[in-house]
Amino acid sequence: MTKAYERLLACYQCVEDRLPFRPKVALVLGSGLGDYADSIRIESVLDYHDISGFPVSTVSGHKGRFVFGYVNDVPVVIMQGRVHYYEGYAMEDVVLPIRLMKMMGAEILFLTNAAGGVNFDFHAGDFMMITDQISNFVPSPLIGPNIEELGERFCDMSQIYNRELCQIIRETARELSIPLQEGTYIQLTGPNFESPKEVKMCRILGADAVGMSTACEAIAANHMGMKTCGISCISNLGCGMSDQPLSHEEVKETADKVAPLFKQLITSAVTRMGNL
Ligand code: HPA
Repeated sequence: MTKAYERLLACYQCVEDRLPFRPKVALVLGSGLGDYADSIRIESVLDYHDISGFPVSTVSGHKGRFVFGYVNDVPVVIMQGRVHYYEGYAMEDVVLPIRLMKMMGAEILFLTNAAGGVNFDFHAGDFMMITDQISNFVPSPLIGPNIEELGERFCDMSQIYNRELCQIIRETARELSIPLQEGTYIQLTGPNFESPKEVKMCRILGADAVGMSTACEAIAANHMGMKTCGISCISNLGCGMSDQPLSHEEVKETADKVAPLFKQLITSAVTRMGNL
């Protein structure tokens, strides 16, 4: 058994002891969305600090806990706060929570984030459903001995974002009259925002939105055969696309502003995913 899997099992035992709960959907909340978890029917809460060996975030505004509960009648586990590669954690740490949520029973992973728009057709405040990704600027979370218990060494990535889940999100947005962009997410390391030429590079590579999370989590989830989907809140346009310098405050402000709509979209989409 690999060290990484031993560690996962130890984390799982901490969770299992305390929570006899089986989530169907795992939801990761990005910047500005953290309080979504407070609006669901909460069954229990578990601080990351109380799980031995669990990576804990250092970013301000990111809470660090699992919330177990129900979105309508769908059992969910919500990550209120995630750790990022730029904090200095190894990729193994960054994706540990995703693996743990799969071990808890979650079949579906719903990723959210705040991202910079790279596509000139995008505006701050838009939502973008992620249909594919570019992750080559960060190390793969699958580097190192393969965790055979989770998935195979050379795993397919032809449909990282599950088509059926994408269709559910698309239809949900249409019914709620929430405009929805679609596109490719590129993960860079951060923590600095990009230079104008780096944003141009992202566009030339085929990306529509740029961020510092998500793609690595989606790879780990696919490795385990978890059905994955994701939505970016376009909190700003990429550097050089507007006159303003970027700030974390701006990112949080925009995300906060559109959070009510985002929450509506997530609630309805998750409810439908419960029927799968
Ligand atoms: N770049 C990278 N990550 C981000 C951005 C951005 O412009 N906005 C929010 N997260």
